[in-house]
Amino acid sequence: MKIVTIHGQNHKGSTYMIAQELVDKISDRKRDVVEKKEFFLPADFDEYCTGCYTCFQTDLSNCPHYQKLEPIKNAILDADLLILESPVYVYHATGQMMSLLDHFGTWWVIHRPEESMFKKRAVVLTTAAGGGMKSTLKDMADSLEMWGISKVYRYGVGVQASRPDEIPEWIMKKIHKKTDRLANQICSSEGKGRMNLRGKMWFSLMKLAHKQFGAMESDYAYWEEKGWH
Ligand SMILES: Cc1cc2nc3c(=O)[nH]c(=O)nc-3n(C[C@H](O)[C@H](O)[C@H](O)COP(=O)(O)O)c2cc1C
Repeated sequence: MKIVTIHGQNHKGSTYMIAQELVDKISDRKRDVVEKKEFFLPADFDEYCTGCYTCFQTDLSNCPHYQKLEPIKNAILDADLLILESPVYVYHATGQMMSLLDHFGTWWVIHRPEESMFKKRAVVLTTAAGGGMKSTLKDMADSLEMWGISKVYRYGVGVQASRPDEIPEWIMKKIHKKTDRLANQICSSEGKGRMNLRGKMWFSLMKLAHKQFGAMESDYAYWEEKGWH
């Protein structure tokens, strides 16, 4: 199993700790078959989308930030399991996490999805002092589900702390239990090989639009080439 973790911050705090714990537990269970990569934001990608529409109108490889984006893009495409984690900052994922995800808008199933996504699974993780977990998980899961990823697991926890060593013992126990359960779920099942229901619904709607508007639609040729019409 190849795992790529994208940290929505450079520092190794509570959210990093949970992501690391999960990766370690998966590695323990699948000792011989785990390949791990990780990226920190903004250290490994620090660009904002300029809104030039080049990716939508031509190809992602023409993005002005492609040189910096390519290693992350390749690692994602190569992975079986993606882990996206971010602390809650003002009820949302960090700006740098959202900036990275902006760069993959063209992967949404209504544009030019990557077929390899339909077999992958993903986990989104967040911690907050107390509130904003749901919206932060949604920030990251929106992209993963709309990329067509087969299954996206979500876990957010209020840690009542600003640093891992301040997290109360009873919350740490809850975290350990949850990461155990997640690791078991991930190791005992494979990707379904088909996109999640939400992605599938939008994909089907887009197929109808293509039939209605034909080659006027800028992604039409890509879909035609894939045989999706
Ligand atoms: C800029 C900033 C904004 C934050 N916004 C929230 C928030 O909206 N809700 C909340 O409960 N905690 C908020 N926090 C607290 C962190 O989400 C919380 O301490 C988290 O566990 C930190 O994770 P980390 O150790 O991985 O950085 C904020 C912290 C910072 C630095």
